[in-house]
Amino acid sequence: MSAETLNRTAEEAREDVIGWRRHLHEHPELSFEEEKTAQFVYDTLESFGNLELSRPTKTSVVARLIGSKAGKTLAIRADMDALPIQEENTFEFASKNPGVMHACGHDGHTAMLLGTAKVLSGMKDQIQGEIRFLFQHAEELYPGGAQEMVNAGVMDGVDMVIGCHLWSPIEIGKVGVAYGPMMAAPDTFWITIKGKGGHAALPQQTIDSIAIGAQVVTNIQHIVARNTDPLDNLVVSITQFNGGSAHNIMPGSVEMCGTVRSFDAKLRAAVPQLMERIVKGITEAHGAEYVFKYENGYRPVINNNEVTRIIEATVIEVFGKEALDLMKPNMGGEDFSAFQQKAPGAYFYIGAGNPDKGIIHPHHHALFTIDEDALEIGVKMFLNAAFKLLA
Ligand code: NI
Repeated sequence: MSAETLNRTAEEAREDVIGWRRHLHEHPELSFEEEKTAQFVYDTLESFGNLELSRPTKTSVVARLIGSKAGKTLAIRADMDALPIQEENTFEFASKNPGVMHACGHDGHTAMLLGTAKVLSGMKDQIQGEIRFLFQHAEELYPGGAQEMVNAGVMDGVDMVIGCHLWSPIEIGKVGVAYGPMMAAPDTFWITIKGKGGHAALPQQTIDSIAIGAQVVTNIQHIVARNTDPLDNLVVSITQFNGGSAHNIMPGSVEMCGTVRSFDAKLRAAVPQLMERIVKGITEAHGAEYVFKYENGYRPVINNNEVTRIIEATVIEVFGKEALDLMKPNMGGEDFSAFQQKAPGAYFYIGAGNPDKGIIHPHHHALFTIDEDALEIGVKMFLNAAFKLLA
């Protein structure tokens, strides 16, 4: 299939894709609750013909397109869930579901993959191998939908997997590609410091959990600053610190939680031990006690070089060299990594920001939106990459 033919079919699907995106945007659903979304996706896919449809979990959908010629199997993934945010956009297709919003662009991901499936379902005779469309639930909420789908067998027999994110920090017209590590493993921790409450005027009768907690916050910075290789990528952030109820009461305890982001498996495993050593040392030094809980999140997104090379070549061929944005990794997390455990894969970013149109708000913001021109770019990327990867 020539790039010209594929690009023309993507342009023909443009209005459908924008329409689907707007429908999904108007009717967002939270992670693990994407029932109407999944039904909409299922019904839309069914109208294309040539696809074998299934529902591997309650709110996910898989479509298999078996080409007329034998070959490899490529999976393409889109996530479908929204976020617990009250939308502040005022366009006519703004969320009709109070407190829930497609504030990350997953509505666009779903629409782009529907558009891709529509075009490819009409090209069965030209397809060598299988294209499997993975419509995933619950990317935003750990433990995530990707692992559930993998457990349900959606990656069985898959040779390669690709996926993308519409990304407003990148300008429209650019496509972000990264080799190797792309997104971090996001882990979570909770710390409770148990002191002894009492009258604030009689500190000698208390064990001050706030003062001890403050030292824990300060000392935990040593993990990144002093305990680990400066050339490794690591973030340790305490994001909540709760305790106390009045100006004259020493609280009995304080609670904290936060996030750790890393790429390297060894470093990732070492952080909870380093952290607990600090918490234990400081609390013991001051006669307090602690509870420390640590939970691993998604695995890091590590792109496969061979698949990434084809994604890069697709960007250059379809959009020109100036469209290519060879990105640095970032410390965000993505459960696309669960699919990458099963087959070599590449995740990439479609630029969706446009300051000229006022599209400047970050992901997960109440005014977030995308430049809808990005949808056509995404469909062109999927179509052209699919034929290149299966060739
Ligand atoms: Ni997202």
